[in-house]
Amino acid sequence: MLISYITFMDVIFLSRLQFAITTVYHFLFVPLSIGLALFIAIWETSAYNSGNSEDERVARFWGRLFLLSFAVGAVTGIVQEFQFGMNWSEYSSFVGDVFGAPLAIEALLAFFLESTFLGLWVFGRHVLPKIVHVVCIWLVFAGSCISAVWILIANSFMQHPVGYAFSNGRAQMTNFWDLISNHYFLHQFPHVIFASLCTASFFVLGISALKIRQQTEDAYLFYRTFKFALFMGGVGLFGVLLSGHLQAQMLFDYQPMKLAAMENLEKSQNPAPLAIVPGVEVPALLSIMVYHRPSGEVKGLEELQKTMEGRFGPGDYKPPVWLTYSSFRIMVFCSSIMVLILFYGIVWNLILRKAMHKKALLLMTFGISLPHVANITGWLLAEVGRQPWIVYGLMPTDKAVSDQISGGAVVFSLFVFCAIYVLLSVMLVYFMRQEILRGCVNKKITKKITNANA
Ligand code: HEM
Repeated sequence: MLISYITFMDVIFLSRLQFAITTVYHFLFVPLSIGLALFIAIWETSAYNSGNSEDERVARFWGRLFLLSFAVGAVTGIVQEFQFGMNWSEYSSFVGDVFGAPLAIEALLAFFLESTFLGLWVFGRHVLPKIVHVVCIWLVFAGSCISAVWILIANSFMQHPVGYAFSNGRAQMTNFWDLISNHYFLHQFPHVIFASLCTASFFVLGISALKIRQQTEDAYLFYRTFKFALFMGGVGLFGVLLSGHLQAQMLFDYQPMKLAAMENLEKSQNPAPLAIVPGVEVPALLSIMVYHRPSGEVKGLEELQKTMEGRFGPGDYKPPVWLTYSSFRIMVFCSSIMVLILFYGIVWNLILRKAMHKKALLLMTFGISLPHVANITGWLLAEVGRQPWIVYGLMPTDKAVSDQISGGAVVFSLFVFCAIYVLLSVMLVYFMRQEILRGCVNKKITKKITNANA
């Protein structure tokens, strides 16, 4: 009974569920790794300049956590590519001629750059000349950014296809420059990079706060990383808010349906209000955001549905409104809490130079989750809000799944992935905990002190 139910379950729904689960899991590690690589590169450079062994210990501690995040990110990223062939073969053959180049460059250039220099950085600390060792970690950071560039170029094609022509029912690339200078990509990339900076800043802030709160013997080193994370988090948040605003404006031009769903705007309005939460609207705020003035029409779902029907024929062109609407609000809500946390930390600690309260430090440790929630809901907004299209205006999602695959096969692979991911999570939490407990303590010195005291 169960088997036959699963076999006839909607293959499209299951394939989308599988892609969503594996992507969300993968994206817990991507922004963290990108941001942490930058932090570590800065600390390695500072250690090189100052010759201070404490700076080196800081870089090594965060480097160990970075390696764990990088390893899980790399393993889970490979699963993503399997799915194109397994569940989404119609989509792959439709866009393969466009996607092939960016994804191949990502693997050959960016991932090789990242992994090669990561290996050199890990094993070359006592072998390579110090300056070369520092350059290695900067190249790891560069590799991770280049990797993000190519993945986002591919995603931007799905959001706003450019530089292609149809041939034999497939999209073929006609202009590489158009593809890589896609406006959608130029807006998406800064948002993702600043989001990565926020993710790493809150991670460093939260763990440093934990160690300061516990008053471990290396707490003074964590106090340094705490202050630095407050500063970097401020830069990241400023960037993410600005780029997020520009992205919302871009949606007005390229995906007005997503913008209307994001605001649950049923009818076109001039001026258009913005709902903070359902039922609490600020008059004209949406028009101000889009036009930078208190008037200007924003098209509603009804009118856009009619326009789309005129262009593409009968069908339902509205994305799932409640998910798009709430994803946006959760992302912005997380941003507001992050602003408050950083504001408090910067004013209280950096400006007034007062010691942090224990409860505030605890809150900062819980704050590690905020950018992750914002990242996940950001992607939900970007991907769910684009529905019913997998490639906007070109290919509907229900035409993209492999036609030979059964619901049972997708459920099976989903189950296997989930089991592996649970195992990975347990191992990750265990090893991260070990590393955090170990901290930045220089064991040799501690041992000497203990012996001397004995
Ligand atoms: C007021 C604050 C924010 C605004 C106005 C904003 C705006 C947006 C918009 C409009 C999108 C959808 C773009 C699309 O459909 O392609 C988006 C996506 C996204 N957002 Fe935000 N965002 C904000 C804060 C944040 C924060 C704090 C983070 C994480 C730390 C974040 C991470 C993301 C991610 C990962 C995506 C998906 C990738 C992308 O399309 O850029 N956002 N954001």
